[in-house]
Amino acid sequence: MKYDFDRIATPRGIGSVKWEHRKGDNGLEAWDATEEIDGKRQVLPMWVADMDFAIAEPIRRALEARAAIPSVGYTYKTDAYLSAVTGWMQRRHGWTVEKDWIATASGVVPALNMLVRTFTQAGDGVIVQPPVYHPFYMVIENNDARVVRNPLRLVDGRYEMDFQDLEAKASDPTVKMLLLCSPHNPVGRVWNEAELSRLGEICNRHDVLVVADELHADLMLNGSVFKPYAALGRACAENAIVCSAASKTFSLAGMHTAHIITPNPELRSQVGAGLQKATMFGMNPFGAAAVQAAYDEGEEWLRQVLAYIQGNMDFMAGYLAKNLPHIRMIKPEATYLAWLDCRALGLDKAQLEDLMLNKAGLYLDEGYIFGEEGAGFERINVACPRFILEDAMRRLTDAVTH
Ligand SMILES: Cc1ncc(COP(=O)(O)O)c(C=O)c1O
Repeated sequence: MKYDFDRIATPRGIGSVKWEHRKGDNGLEAWDATEEIDGKRQVLPMWVADMDFAIAEPIRRALEARAAIPSVGYTYKTDAYLSAVTGWMQRRHGWTVEKDWIATASGVVPALNMLVRTFTQAGDGVIVQPPVYHPFYMVIENNDARVVRNPLRLVDGRYEMDFQDLEAKASDPTVKMLLLCSPHNPVGRVWNEAELSRLGEICNRHDVLVVADELHADLMLNGSVFKPYAALGRACAENAIVCSAASKTFSLAGMHTAHIITPNPELRSQVGAGLQKATMFGMNPFGAAAVQAAYDEGEEWLRQVLAYIQGNMDFMAGYLAKNLPHIRMIKPEATYLAWLDCRALGLDKAQLEDLMLNKAGLYLDEGYIFGEEGAGFERINVACPRFILEDAMRRLTDAVTH
């Protein structure tokens, strides 16, 4: 079937984080983005990584069928569920995953939190590669571990890892873990085999455990090819724990269903103990139904949505180059999140935020939340109907030029 991505599937009043909330000092606060503020136009929410599109029809049907079963007690992964996950990894990424490597969690962030708690002691270092998905800092600090920064370098419009710095950081014996964001949010890089192997060689040599967040692995753009970290070979697989989910791929974040994949049996038993200790147990039955249907029957929807997102990215790149040359889009290799370099506007953090929210009426993620290296950048979510993106570009032009 042909899907229609030109419509917003999210009505008001369902508690949508993207449309009905914004960040407050103590977590989210209620806020209807579509309400006119002071008689002015509504704000376009293009921040949190959720799509505006209707989910794939096989997923909707699976949820309907599950709702027809009047039993929603504690639920655990079934063999059919595990086959759906392993089948997807094999078909889409050429990665052979054994069913018993897979544990479930209510999200990748809770999984990362548990993994930092399980595999580090107070004061241990955990390497991150900023600018990076901001909850990485939180899960390290929450557990009394120490953030060790290995900043990415922006070279000719493309981010690269700094291996010399990584070697120096990893060689500190108090550094125990690296949180790898692959593909990288927010800079949109799909790390290639050579980069991942070099990172793996350094981490393995220094006994630094690699926790790979591969949540955006299915969202390939511009012909990129994803390489699963644990498929690099035995040495990397044995020293890695992979977190993944169907939640970004199929817009299922509210289903709170994610996977922790651990090839090494010793690490796996520690993961099992960590899950117990964190009282993380079982699955949401609707999450289970949705993810199974997504992996078994969602490929056609994914093909279509990726073509639409690619169209949005191309449109925005062309628009900015023509109309707003002071805003440079870092060409994304994956994800529906674009990283905009706004430094040439010459604004400080507060001025840039004011320009986006109050002058343009755009609610974006400010670059600095991803680390100080992100100051002067904005992250924009383009998993929206084209008319929203066109409106956003017009607003941005008005705000910058008037
Ligand atoms: C890299 C990355 N990891 C984790 C998450 C959140 O995952 P979850 O909702 O499963 O906790 C996101 C959400 O945008 C993300 O981009």
